[in-house]
Amino acid sequence: MRGFVDVHSHVVPSGDDGAEGIEEGLTLCRLAFEAGTDVLFATPHAHAPWDTFPRTPARNATYAAAFPEMQKEVATWGLDLRRGWEVYPTVITPENVGEYTLEGTRGVLIEFPGSWLDLDDAIEILTEAGRVVEAAGLVPVFAHPERCRAVAEDPGCIRPLFDRGWLLCANAPSFLGRHGVVAERTAWALLAAGQIALAASDGHTPGRSPVLQEAYNVVCKRHGEAVARPLFTGSALPWS
Ligand SMILES: [Fe+2]
Repeated sequence: MRGFVDVHSHVVPSGDDGAEGIEEGLTLCRLAFEAGTDVLFATPHAHAPWDTFPRTPARNATYAAAFPEMQKEVATWGLDLRRGWEVYPTVITPENVGEYTLEGTRGVLIEFPGSWLDLDDAIEILTEAGRVVEAAGLVPVFAHPERCRAVAEDPGCIRPLFDRGWLLCANAPSFLGRHGVVAERTAWALLAAGQIALAASDGHTPGRSPVLQEAYNVVCKRHGEAVARPLFTGSALPWS
């Protein structure tokens, strides 16, 4: 099918672990477009200062230079490439939150700390970030909750986030087992509980591509098209 909206990808070079250059970025965009994605958000990492990919002037400049060139090129195919960031919760402040919106929406993509970070207070820092986003009149969109250790151990711990109307965005590859069996099991459990609002690729490279079709098919198979379609077409996004 066509009409996929992908709110999470690393297809525009920014000096993170996504596309290394414009050529690779365009290859990723082409893969996404050919597999049915019509709107693709580029969301480079904005990590905490102590982590691997914090924003730096050099990274900002790389992204700022690559984005318009790629956007112009992919628009000729019919792909709508938009700006965003995937921001680590503790990076968000009342002063900077406006920089992190997903272009054309009131959503802010916030990174759920992955199991590799082994945090004890993941839900606390996410809740605090969500409050800051909400106070600015914006909507938190939480990326890959199923990859967080606290959520895998107790999926019920994210209920308070869901109950506030905040959006949980699973990684589509999690439904295919591509982030391991724990994330796979957790993603399906959250979906069955009705807590997943969006599914996105988190595509980084040709080997970890921004293609949604296969995950869409498995979600359709298990839960039907009426459940799958809104997740993959961005219907929950706060469009502005
Ligand atoms: Fe990501």
